[in-house]
Amino acid sequence: MRIHKIAAIPGDGIGPEVIAAGLEALETCAQRDGGFALKIEHFDWGSDYYKRYGVMMPDGGTDKLRPFDAIYFGAVGAPDIPDHITLWGLRLAICQPLDQYANVRPTRILPGITSPLRHVTGPELDWVIVRENSEGEYAGVGGRVHKGLPEEVATDVAIFTRSGVTRIIRFAFELARSRPRKLLTVVTKSNAQRHGMVMWDDMAAEVAREFPDVTWDKMLVDSMTMRMTLRPETLDTIVATNLHADILSDLAAALAGSLGIAPTANLNPERKTPSMFEPIHGSAFDITGKGIANPVGAFWTGVMMLEHLGEKAAAARLMKAVERVTADPALHTPDLGGKATTRQVTDAVKRALEGDNS
Ligand code: IPM
Ligand code: MG
Repeated sequence: MRIHKIAAIPGDGIGPEVIAAGLEALETCAQRDGGFALKIEHFDWGSDYYKRYGVMMPDGGTDKLRPFDAIYFGAVGAPDIPDHITLWGLRLAICQPLDQYANVRPTRILPGITSPLRHVTGPELDWVIVRENSEGEYAGVGGRVHKGLPEEVATDVAIFTRSGVTRIIRFAFELARSRPRKLLTVVTKSNAQRHGMVMWDDMAAEVAREFPDVTWDKMLVDSMTMRMTLRPETLDTIVATNLHADILSDLAAALAGSLGIAPTANLNPERKTPSMFEPIHGSAFDITGKGIANPVGAFWTGVMMLEHLGEKAAAARLMKAVERVTADPALHTPDLGGKATTRQVTDAVKRALEGDNS
């Protein structure tokens, strides 16, 4: 029996609801498979922890995560704590020290889901966004001085390093090569930002020489939003900086039908540290505790985690079960215009898994 040790960090808002649903589905998946088990340890870190102890996670928290095979993360953010505190105190405090430098965000229109793009039915939109996840605009370099005075100054410096840029571009080329279309789009803003972004363009051209079988092109981030909306079928794998890909991935999630569906993997591709898997959506305080959060993002995230753990067959079964369920409009949660509850969607996915004899 293969044992995978998982650290579950449900976090804030609807995080605990969707992670509980996801763990139920993963547990059913493991039982159905019979070849592996998940050993889950829960961590109560997040905004409630902050209100009690003044920190989002205990000292040395990140090191406690190192022995795990993967981290399953819910959401972070509270209405009464500034967002930069919750973000830097937990999510980035895990991603950056564990060097989860490749943030991978697949986007597809699942069966039964309607895209807001009227000409798109499904096959025209099948992307993976690769987000640089360790530096760039999220490097945390900058400062604010002379607070409240007319001389007040604030800077946020984007940091781009040759090693950071080449490794993410190389990762994206490899991912593009593994997909049927072998097509990569490198997104920058090298017309306006003439240092770091021009370096990205140069590194892309350099790394591209290692991948003669991958077709690639370059886009400026502003025109990329138009191309995603008007010609989605011309894109496949996309790589961009931390901030640009953050923005593009919300657009991608919306074009694929709902933010409630989209998954993310924060990968350390060399597997020196555990990778972290989380739905893209945030804590969603407007619907917290109502039992109507869409668990599909957490399920699809679970699929990515199973793939990373080497459980390919179980991952494929879970994805099939999720697609069975999204195909039925009676099982759509309110973010998809339906009336289903988290419980109903979760039960349906578990039933689909139990009935799958593949
Ligand atoms: C994301 C989120 C986060 C980010 C927020 C919660 C700070 O939008 O994962 O895309 O910007 O990285
Ligand atoms: Mg975002």
